[in-house]
Amino acid sequence: MTADTTLYTPAEHAAMDTALAAALAGPRGANPLVGAVILSPGGEQLATGYHRGAGTAHAEADAISEARKQGIDTVGTTMVVTLEPCNHVGRTGPCAQAIMAAGISKVIYAVDDPHDPAAGGARTLRSAGVEVRSGLALDRAFDLNRDWFDAVAAKRPFVTLHIAQTLDSRIAADDGTSQWISSPESLADNHGLRGLIDAILVGTGTVLIDNPRLTARDAEGELFSRQPVRAVMGLRDVPEDAAVRGADGRFVHLPTRDPAEALGMLFGQGVRHVMVEGGSSILSTFLGAHLVDELIVYMAPTLLGSGTPALHDLGITTLKDAQHWSWDDAGGGAVRMLGNDLRLHLRSPRGTVGTIKNSALHKSLVPRSEAAEHVTGGH
Ligand SMILES: NC(=O)c1ccc[n+]([C@@H]2O[C@H](COP(=O)([O-])OP(=O)(O)OC[C@H]3O[C@@H](n4cnc5c(N)ncnc54)[C@H](OP(=O)(O)O)[C@@H]3O)[C@@H](O)[C@H]2O)c1
Repeated sequence: MTADTTLYTPAEHAAMDTALAAALAGPRGANPLVGAVILSPGGEQLATGYHRGAGTAHAEADAISEARKQGIDTVGTTMVVTLEPCNHVGRTGPCAQAIMAAGISKVIYAVDDPHDPAAGGARTLRSAGVEVRSGLALDRAFDLNRDWFDAVAAKRPFVTLHIAQTLDSRIAADDGTSQWISSPESLADNHGLRGLIDAILVGTGTVLIDNPRLTARDAEGELFSRQPVRAVMGLRDVPEDAAVRGADGRFVHLPTRDPAEALGMLFGQGVRHVMVEGGSSILSTFLGAHLVDELIVYMAPTLLGSGTPALHDLGITTLKDAQHWSWDDAGGGAVRMLGNDLRLHLRSPRGTVGTIKNSALHKSLVPRSEAAEHVTGGH
């Protein structure tokens, strides 16, 4: 965006760089990654905040609370934030109100919030006399959450796909045994994720072979207080005595083989983040349909040579059609050791710069965000 350089000061650019970097510390999922920086009138970065995932403080509130902890007076400061402040009361309070209550007189944000209930923070702030400008680092801020924007625009849950595999990409041995391919540390990490998501999804095959509980548990096997919906996809019935049914009413059977339909059913039930855990047929069908936003692979230093491959046919017959995933630095990094395993974290192949520019959402954002009328208000 050429508009950035003329409309914003070097201190505001630097603050947005800090906010974008801070945002990466959060986890991907139902909510976007967001970072925020409070700037003094002289351009000094006073406090930084970021969003730690659904149900936790938004980045703006986090930055304001960080400033309070340090005894910093926020009256007359500028908030630089990667996404339009929200205007709704979800699991946390509206950021627009928090910004006004903190006496912040100017807000600079990168990209408009497309999520209907949350949108409108800029208008509220302007009507309260806060100067609001948008469009700084628009492309980078859009790219930061391109998969989340896609999911919001498609009215489907954000999809994380999880694979626990051997070095030779097997998820079960020839005799069907698969517990456990991963290290205890990987299992703990997986259960931590289960505690954050809205739903976990497997195929009928996994239920019939493994009879998994699909709950979120600690190392002692105790249930976490927050449990995902347990979804099983496939046309066969789920046995009455299957462990996945549980007794808490959080089980759902999705009688379809169409991944988009399965996501639609879950979205209709309020699910905004689903983790697809297997088996091979289900992993392949979601990947083949380009319906995966985030990939988490736990790779054990183990060889089987035979057994169930992680993936079947993805509909690719020539190298030029290969899916090229990107390493994802968000939420703890792209590559980590977990016990004896490697944890690989990747983002979807969608959203190269070309496709971002071509996306309907991006096109709808650019004119609004670059428009001169966005430089308004002021005390
Ligand atoms: N290591 C891991 O991370 C991990 C995780 C999970 C599972 N696993 C292993 O994976 C193995 C099971 O894999 P799997 O492939 O047999 O089972 P699956 O993927 O769990 O389920 C396959 C079944 O799902 C249904 N289905 C729904 N949509 C489909 C579609 N678009 N295409 C094909 N089938 C669809 C079909 O059953 P219907 O006839 O009912 O429609 C199909 O037979 C087990 O050995 C399990 O231990 C490993």
